[in-house]
Amino acid sequence: MTLEQKIGQMTQPEIRWITPDQVRQYYIGSVLNGGGSWPEMNKHASLSDWTRLTKSYATAAMETDMPTHIPLLWGIDAVHGNNNVMGSTLYPHNIGLGAAHDPELLFRIGRATARAVRAIGASWAFAPTVAVSRDARWGRAYESFSSDPVEVAKDGAAVVRGLQGSISGPDDVLATAKHFVGDGGTARGQDQGDNLATANALARVDGAGYYAALDAGVQTVMVSYSSWTDGGKIPFGKMHGDRTLVTGVLKDRLHFDGLVVSDWNAIEQVPGCTVDHCPQAVNAGIDVFMVSEKWKEFIANTVADVRAGRIPMSRINNAVTRILRVKMRAGLFDHPVASSPLTGDQAALTDRPLAREAARKSVVLLKNNSFKTSASPILPLRVGKRILVVGGGADSFAEQTGGWSLTWQGDDNVNADFTTGETLLAGLRRVYGAANVTYSPDGTALAKAQYDAVIAVIGETPHAEYKGDVRWPAPLAESASYPEQLKLLKRVSGKGVPVVTVLYSGRPTYTSDIINRSTAFVAGFLPGSEAGALADLLAGRKGLDFSGRLSFAWPNTACPTGGELASETLFKRDYGLSYHHGGTVHHLAELSVPRSCP
Ligand code: GLC
Repeated sequence: MTLEQKIGQMTQPEIRWITPDQVRQYYIGSVLNGGGSWPEMNKHASLSDWTRLTKSYATAAMETDMPTHIPLLWGIDAVHGNNNVMGSTLYPHNIGLGAAHDPELLFRIGRATARAVRAIGASWAFAPTVAVSRDARWGRAYESFSSDPVEVAKDGAAVVRGLQGSISGPDDVLATAKHFVGDGGTARGQDQGDNLATANALARVDGAGYYAALDAGVQTVMVSYSSWTDGGKIPFGKMHGDRTLVTGVLKDRLHFDGLVVSDWNAIEQVPGCTVDHCPQAVNAGIDVFMVSEKWKEFIANTVADVRAGRIPMSRINNAVTRILRVKMRAGLFDHPVASSPLTGDQAALTDRPLAREAARKSVVLLKNNSFKTSASPILPLRVGKRILVVGGGADSFAEQTGGWSLTWQGDDNVNADFTTGETLLAGLRRVYGAANVTYSPDGTALAKAQYDAVIAVIGETPHAEYKGDVRWPAPLAESASYPEQLKLLKRVSGKGVPVVTVLYSGRPTYTSDIINRSTAFVAGFLPGSEAGALADLLAGRKGLDFSGRLSFAWPNTACPTGGELASETLFKRDYGLSYHHGGTVHHLAELSVPRSCP
């Protein structure tokens, strides 16, 4: 291979900025579609649009003038189902999957997700995130399974095994353990910030998911935007320039022999680098560069660096060896991706029963009190009751699926964008009968008729990455971020009708003021496209019961200092009620939510 061919293999453009013929001309080794990127930039692209596009790039890669053609990898953020693709089933985000405490379920979700990725003709899923999130201010808190490294290790490994299967089968895809290392432990939860852990804590906590993912045979690792300062004293800088950890630890000490991929344009954050030129990142041990737009310049600059001796050829050869090794292990030289019988199979995009099971297992019952003279807790709410449903979240696919859903942020979707799935409102109408379910988003209907119960479904604006950060000193409280939620609860509570509140949230957050105005309270997290399945759970149909237990502590303050301190905890990690193991939650201390934390 020529130097240009080798560096072409190391370059990963985004499909908006490269044509299939350029993949051929520049010997490109992989492409990706980023969150919010679809065939013809059409969010409603059909499965055949996707397969036509992936095939065009894959074919082009096999038409280079090289004596041996090298098959292309197509990477996609399939982080809770094949979530970029309209018509796909979306599973609960990791924060809820961690609450399920069910690695076998996560393995099945991995298997189903691999099928859905194969259906479009892609072969590489940028999942699972194995961050151990320790500060709920982080905008990606919901992408973390737990603040417990042991849970993260179990869940991350299960998803890797589910996605990769035998690695080379027609229903297998490459998995990605991300983001290496310490993305979930940055100061004050700032996305892409600085992790101040000691080396021991970084290894023991942030590293836990990687040992398990490597043991599970993960073939790719994505580097974190974050940086590390050992114990807050010794700066190692941005991970994308950190040879000590990327090569010294991941490759040499942990013997990882797959490929390491950079994050989106992340090399520009390495001091002295630009978005298209970073010999430090190549020498640090990154093998594939997600340079999205400026890929031509990256190739030219990196060729020049090698020729000038700034990058040793041995590093290039090692990177290309790893890339070819992963492609061989994936069977791509023997079985082109498009040859899979799953390619173009619409049914492979969905698995509704699995998503409904996962949704029910991913939510946590935090409060289930009795009401007035009744001795029994308000839930299960038996069929036959007349229910008033309030809150925008009840009929919002966007709020139940969160970020990384059809689009990057997930905040620009309407219900019509989701062609499969069920909202909680639809589920309640299915379970209790439409005649017994009245929907009044603002709750004003309560004053006009008699109901046996109110179900308030409140959600957050979907978000992803740094856009979801709650930057200190802002308070971390639903009533601060979403004041309309508390206003709604004040409107419908204390009116002689019990209130069941379901909160869709991407993080544990101060809600004592809302919980006090709820007879029962469910932490719904982000249950996915089948949130309607929660209706069966609320009704206790077919013996269904809550089984979810918190995988993060739930705060008693709007100004948590990070690290889930006992003094700042309302419900501990692993807390969760059920119909068979109840418990009364007495009136909670309602601290006034400050405009900014001290
Ligand atoms: C994003 C995310 C990463 C994702 C990548 C490709 O910035 O950090 O998790 O896989 O870009 O979309």
